[in-house]
Amino acid sequence: MTALPSRVVITESSSRDGLQSLGAFVPTTAKSGLINALADTGLRNFDAVSFVSPKAVPQMADGAEVMAGIDRSKGMRLFGLVPNAKGLEAAVAAGVDGIGVLTAASDTFNERNINATVDESMHRIRRILLDAPEDMEVRGYISTATHCPYEGEQDPDWVAHLAETLAEWGVHAVFLGETIGRATPAHIDRLLDEVLQRVPAEMVGVHFHDTYGQAIANTVAALQRGIAMMDSSAGGLGGCPYAPGATGNVATEDVLYLLEGLGIEHGIDLVSVARVAQRFCADHNLAYSSAAGTALLASRDGA
Ligand code: HMG
Ligand code: MG
Repeated sequence: MTALPSRVVITESSSRDGLQSLGAFVPTTAKSGLINALADTGLRNFDAVSFVSPKAVPQMADGAEVMAGIDRSKGMRLFGLVPNAKGLEAAVAAGVDGIGVLTAASDTFNERNINATVDESMHRIRRILLDAPEDMEVRGYISTATHCPYEGEQDPDWVAHLAETLAEWGVHAVFLGETIGRATPAHIDRLLDEVLQRVPAEMVGVHFHDTYGQAIANTVAALQRGIAMMDSSAGGLGGCPYAPGATGNVATEDVLYLLEGLGIEHGIDLVSVARVAQRFCADHNLAYSSAAGTALLASRDGA
């Protein structure tokens, strides 16, 4: 077991992954407002918007407008999800600091999600890396890194091969997406056994969904392997429109509570995140699902 990292960088995904599957359109000002309010809690990295086809994901059609409504004075780093050249063009025009580029481990999910085989999406990523501005941070996401909703369990060696290829092509970080929240720490260990032989831990991030209630356990497994970059979503919001049944991302509040207990620095005010997320969920009729946030707010507000 590696020593736990002393500091973790959280990327907040509630305005992107948290909202993308919702049917009812969340107004643009509410999306920017969520990011602005969360920036006041100390969060500095945001998986803020997507630049994808509005036919594929109507909820994310307003990426450029959401970006325009964000108060950049707090020095946040804003990322946009980009599936192709058109998305890159839109992301650059909107002034993002970084992009997330996408593949999956499995062809079936990838075809439903971005209409490309894994091979085709890897080639798209290569093109995007060549065309992206020099100062743009590029994160390579590998979805279905342990399980595909259509093809089942994935081969860690194959995922490690994809991760290594992305690293060789010049992504700044590889994010392992546990898209459907089915993995347990044993799966994460097996995956990291392979990935960390080929990509250094400093370059690897994790993106866990909590469908089966395993995301915090999986976060511990990743921390124990020295992983210090993770995505999470305030209030546990999240899902993927092309992963049926997959629920929210691991809640930012639950990750922060875990990190505090382990003595790992993060620079974020947990209770403030919980207050912002609980208000947002109430305003938009969404379920608030952070266990730590619920408990902390109940004890404070009831005290
Ligand atoms: P396609 O149909 O093959 O694309 O879709 P196309 O190039 O043939 O174009 C079709 C239409 O889309 C055209 O418009 C294009 O202009 C337009 P039309 O002529 O019909 O009016 N178009 C675009 N519009 C805006 N922005 C673009 C863009 N590209 C084409 N970038 C495509 C391929 C990739 C575009 C589509 O499948 C798509 O947008 N997919 C995105 C799906 C998505 O956002 N899924 C959720 C995000 S992934 C995720 O959540 C996983 C993650 O969280 C990690 C994890 O949990 O594992 C990151
Ligand atoms: Mg996701």
